[in-house]
Amino acid sequence: MAHGHPAGNGAAVAHAAEYRWALLVGAIIAFLIGMMIYMSVHWAAMPPVRTETIDPGTLHISGEFIEANLGSVAESDGSVTVRVLANQYSFTPSCLLLPTGTPVRIRGTAADVVHGFSIAQSNVNVMLVPGYISNFQTKFEKPGEHVMPCHEYCGVGHAAMWARVKIIDKAEFMRQAAGGRRLSCAEQ
Ligand code: CUA
Repeated sequence: MAHGHPAGNGAAVAHAAEYRWALLVGAIIAFLIGMMIYMSVHWAAMPPVRTETIDPGTLHISGEFIEANLGSVAESDGSVTVRVLANQYSFTPSCLLLPTGTPVRIRGTAADVVHGFSIAQSNVNVMLVPGYISNFQTKFEKPGEHVMPCHEYCGVGHAAMWARVKIIDKAEFMRQAAGGRRLSCAEQ
């Protein structure tokens, strides 16, 4: 008599349990919908990324992606910016020269179609889209060489589209970058 539920009460117990679970699931769904509404309103008011655009038709004539401005440059705050341009089927410069232990900002865009930009053994992985400037910040701790393949199908030459990244000692990099020189390791 002291054990279990009296016969006939089973249905009521099951009903109560189902009701508790329904409340819990309902609360989870309400929370998720609330979160979606909150995030859409919040992000519409404050977009998480600053979208920068550029005219792919004129980027080789004027602005920051002219050929003389591509490659790596030392900034006055001690960081390094590297600018890269992708087009079928190469990257310019074809070899990026970067320092160890320095905040690096990559700025890239595409002149024709969508290309992929990734650096092996690093967290760098972005898309280069015509009309937009892709921004990525990273840091390389060790000197070395990495491959930088295009990872977005961009036409018949896609498989052959890749570049290299060479990480050198910070002091040597800064010595070469003195005076605002644009650096790369591409063979001229
Ligand atoms: Cu460029 Cu694939």
